[in-house]
Amino acid sequence: MPNTLIVNARLVNEGKEFFGDLRIANGRIAQIGTGLVAHIEERVIDAAGRRVLPGMIDDQVHFREPGLEHKGDMATESAAAVAGGLTTFMDMPNTSPPTLDAAALEDKYRRAAGRAWGNHGFYMGASNDNLEAIRSLDPKTAPGVKVFMGASTGNMLVDNPETLDGIFRDVPTPIITHCEDTPMIEAKLAEYRARYGDDIPAECHPDIRSREACFKSTELAISLARRHGTRLHVLHISTADELALFSAGPIQGKKITAETCIHYLRFDRTDYARLGHLIKCNPAIKEASDREALIRALAEDVIDVLATDHAPHTLEEKSKPYTQAPSGLPLVQYALVAALELVREGRLTNAQVVHKLAHAPAMLFDVKERGFLREGYWADLVLIDDVPMTVQREDVLSKCGWSPFEGTTFHSRIASTWVNGQLAWDGRMLVGLPNGQRLQFDR
Ligand code: DOR
Repeated sequence: MPNTLIVNARLVNEGKEFFGDLRIANGRIAQIGTGLVAHIEERVIDAAGRRVLPGMIDDQVHFREPGLEHKGDMATESAAAVAGGLTTFMDMPNTSPPTLDAAALEDKYRRAAGRAWGNHGFYMGASNDNLEAIRSLDPKTAPGVKVFMGASTGNMLVDNPETLDGIFRDVPTPIITHCEDTPMIEAKLAEYRARYGDDIPAECHPDIRSREACFKSTELAISLARRHGTRLHVLHISTADELALFSAGPIQGKKITAETCIHYLRFDRTDYARLGHLIKCNPAIKEASDREALIRALAEDVIDVLATDHAPHTLEEKSKPYTQAPSGLPLVQYALVAALELVREGRLTNAQVVHKLAHAPAMLFDVKERGFLREGYWADLVLIDDVPMTVQREDVLSKCGWSPFEGTTFHSRIASTWVNGQLAWDGRMLVGLPNGQRLQFDR
């Protein structure tokens, strides 16, 4: 592979934006500077003042393998991810079978080897009866342990109070939680079912999977983490109310952190009329006021990480009545350009987007040598073009073949993505062979 020199780039990294050049050699960032001179046989790319960012690290995706490959698989979904500028993904355990022990975890790493376009880590899942497997988990083999404190796709609810207490006490990695109180949701669902039968209107989803259910469950997770001193990361915060449970400040000093996802920042209740079950997800997309508060909380460092919760389902599945239509939407391919719209709208800076989508997840999960533009780190990079791009169904690379953003015009597009120094996406198509590596954790 020839080495590459990117010149005239607007580099965004560690709170700064500056013009400079970046040399890639042997898969890594070899040099960052100004006026770098090309070596013989080096491929030179003129960024012409465009933004170059560290590749995004998505700490929450569902790539569906094993067992749910009709919705997506490691190859298809990671292809969509690199086309979207996401060079690292951390995948969820609600597969079939679920990832509940070290053997299932290693099976996923084997499946990803040579097929994943992005670098990858796999979470260990929790259940009501795998506490021993969690205790004996080697913290270098998984970014963390996922606990569904609310039932969602895959039936992995952990609701035994003693088990929950044991997990929070003994877990050797960060815990990441899905927080929604299932009994509250079931009670609401019964009410709506009595009124509508199975065909409940999609816009009732945030009333069934209510803000109160989110608050109660998030509060419980935080109280357990405080009791045991656990490193807790609460996923997909969807309400303004829950923000009061977290503190503002740099991620380095925190034991309890929060994540939100791109769909909570781009959609709100008014979008159910147009998109119906396509934006049905758990937790539910809620009010415009929640959306506003979540964007503010990102800017004010109350929310630490921005992710996707990429969760593909087929259009056929999505077209079923409410009670059977699965929750989740495909997002990896357009998450970064959607986040960059917030920069254009003056709500976040480029540096904040890079912080929330690359630096913060790298720090939170102790990811080794990724997530920053630093000499010696792996060359996971994205070049952004500032040209309008309208999302069209035929451009979607996810196996499910649709996007909630179809018809939306973004004001930027992904011109190139490099994974481990190798060009993986050239702005039009995938290039070369999948080159993602198993993540290493510095812990
Ligand atoms: O909307 C969701 N879909 N939320 C989850 O927690 C799971 C995900 C899925 O796997 O489909």
